[in-house]
Amino acid sequence: MVCLGNICRSPLAEGIMAEKLKSINKPFFIDSAGTGGWHAGEPPDHRSIDVAEKYGIDISNQRARKITFNDLESFDYIFTMDEEVQKDVIGLTENTTQKSKIFLMLSFAGFKGNVIVPDPYWGGKEEFEATYKLLDKACDQIIARFITAET
Ligand code: 4NP
Repeated sequence: MVCLGNICRSPLAEGIMAEKLKSINKPFFIDSAGTGGWHAGEPPDHRSIDVAEKYGIDISNQRARKITFNDLESFDYIFTMDEEVQKDVIGLTENTTQKSKIFLMLSFAGFKGNVIVPDPYWGGKEEFEATYKLLDKACDQIIARFITAET
């Protein structure tokens, strides 16, 4: 899961997806990162921690990091939160295999029209709540897409 700072959106996406995948009997590894490294080493924004906690998910142990070239090799899917992040992650790739793993998260989830997860950083509690709900729905739809693909 990739956003800009790895303190607001992608930590929530990671926490929500990891929580949902726990109930599915498959091994998985999920992580998140930012295209920028300004917050590297920091825990998620307290507003992301708070909204996750409200829904029973603890993301406080996550630490921000900047995406690396190695991520493009080691992960099967890379989900980006908006078009700027998408463009920047694609800019790191060196081949079509790497490129083919990168998806706008909401597009992959089947959303139509606006496929951007808005950055709540400059907003308030309501924006973080809206981000949570959007990501929660997207994770459900992504899991449904994987399950459908398998059957
Ligand atoms: P995120 O939000 O990309 O969802 O983690 C942001 C967090 C910090 C900054 C920008 C976006 N920043 O400019 O520091």
